[in-house]
Amino acid sequence: MQKACMIGAGYVGLVTGVCLADFGNKVTCVDLDEEKIGALLAGQMPFYEPGLEEIVRRNVREGRLSFTSDLPRAIRDNQVVFIAVGTPQSDSGHADLSQVFSAARAIARNLNGYKLIVQKSTVPVGTGEEVLRIIKQNRRGNVPFDVASNPEFLREGSAVEDFMRPDRVVIGTWSRRAEGLLAEIYRPLYLIETPMVRTNVQTAELIKYASNAFLATKISFINEMANLCEIVGADVKVVARGMGLDKRIGSKFLHAGPGYGGSCFPKDTHALAALASRAGSPCEIVEATIDVNRRQRERMLEKILRIAGSVRGKEIGVLGLAFKPQTDDVRESVALDLIRGLRRRGTRIRTFDPVAMSRAAQELGRGVKFCGDAYEVAKGAQVLVIATEWNEFRMLDLRKLRRIMKSPIVVDCRNIYDPEKMVSLGFRYVGVGRGTPAARAKAARRSRRKA
Ligand code: UDX
Repeated sequence: MQKACMIGAGYVGLVTGVCLADFGNKVTCVDLDEEKIGALLAGQMPFYEPGLEEIVRRNVREGRLSFTSDLPRAIRDNQVVFIAVGTPQSDSGHADLSQVFSAARAIARNLNGYKLIVQKSTVPVGTGEEVLRIIKQNRRGNVPFDVASNPEFLREGSAVEDFMRPDRVVIGTWSRRAEGLLAEIYRPLYLIETPMVRTNVQTAELIKYASNAFLATKISFINEMANLCEIVGADVKVVARGMGLDKRIGSKFLHAGPGYGGSCFPKDTHALAALASRAGSPCEIVEATIDVNRRQRERMLEKILRIAGSVRGKEIGVLGLAFKPQTDDVRESVALDLIRGLRRRGTRIRTFDPVAMSRAAQELGRGVKFCGDAYEVAKGAQVLVIATEWNEFRMLDLRKLRRIMKSPIVVDCRNIYDPEKMVSLGFRYVGVGRGTPAARAKAARRSRRKA
C-alpha cells in the first residue's frame, strides 16, 4: 500500500486516483476548484463515466479515498505525488504546460521529505526534465526527490475498465527507487499479468503521443479509404473487415466516420506535430492525419447539404451530441460543429443525446430545440443526422421514423444502418464510404455486364 495524492481532479486525475484507491492505496485527490471538491465530497461526479460513482462511494466509505482543496497539505502528507492537471492546446498548437509547472512549484515549496513526482497528464517529451529543474530550483535545501512519467491510456466511457484491465502500464523513471515505488502502486496488475514497460522518462512521454497519433492515423487512413469507396462504389465497412482480419493490421480503430474528436486525439496530434517540427524532425504522417481529419469533418456538412439541397428554413434533426457514446463530453464533437454549420445556414435544429444535452446547451446557447428522445427529434424533421453512435440509436423503429419525418432523408455519419435496407424502406440514405446510390448502381451495372 502506498500513500499518494493526485493533483487535479479532472477526467484523468479523478479516474486514476479513484482506481488507485481501489487497488488498496490511500489516495487524496486535490483540486483548486473548491466547488468541484465540495460536490465530490457530497458524492456528485463532475462528469458522466460508467462505474465511477460506485467505486468512489466504496473507497470513500472504506477510508482509502479523500478529496481536498488544500494542496500544500496534500503534498506534505504524501510520498507519491501525481500531476494530473490540464494541458490544453495553446494557439500555436503546443501543449500549454503552465498548470504542470505551477504544480511543480507547489511541490517544491512543500517538499518535506523524499517524494516521487509522477507526471500523469499527457506532456511533450522533455517536460519531465523541466519539472525536475523547477523542483530543484525552488526546493528548500537538498531534500531528495524523483520524477517519473506514467502516461494514461484511458478511453472516455470505458475508463474504469481500461484502468483495471490495461493492455500495458508504462513506467518511465530515472532511478531504481522511483521504479520500485511505481511498480508497488500498480502491484495488483501483476496478478493479472499486465505487461509493464519500464523505461526512462523521455521514452515514456513519447510512447503516449506515438500511441494516440498512431490510432488517429488509423482513423484518418480508413476515412480516406471511405472517401475513395464512395467514388468507386465499394463498401468501406467490408474493406475495413477485410483489412482488419490481417492480425498485423487488426480490426480496431478502423471505423470510418466523421473524423475523430474528443479531448485527446485532436490535441495530442497537434502537440506531437508541433513538438516534432520544433525538434527539426517533422512527423509528416501525423500532419497529414490532422489535415485529413479536418477535411473529413467538413465533408459531413457537405454530405448533408448535397442530399438536402438548400437547408435554409428547414428543420434538421441531429441524433447525438457527445463526441462518442458513453460520455457526456462534447469537446471537439462533430455534432456540435455540424449544428453550428447548419445554423449559420439558417437551419432550425432539433436534437437529443442520452447524457450530453446540458453540456452541449452550454456550448450552443439558444436556438436549438432539445428533445426527449430520437422520435421527438425526427418528428417533422426534413433531414435526420446520426452524429453519435449511441446504442439506442442503433435499434430505431425505422418504419415509425419514416412515417413521422417530414421528408425521409437520413445522413448516417456513423454507418450504423444498412444502406440497402434504408433505401428499401423508402429513405434517401447516405452513410460514410458505403458508395453513393449512383456509384452503387454504376458498379452493379458494371458487374452485370461482366457476368
Ligand atoms: C483516446 C485514446 O483511445 C485513449 O487511449 C487516450 O488515453 C485518450 O484518447 P478517447 O478520446 O476517450 O480515448 O476516445 P476513443 O474511443 O479513442 O475515440 C476517439 C475518437 O475517435 C472519437 O471521436 C471516435 O468517434 C473516433 N473513432 C474511434 C473513429 O472515428 N473511428 C474508430 O474506429 C475509433
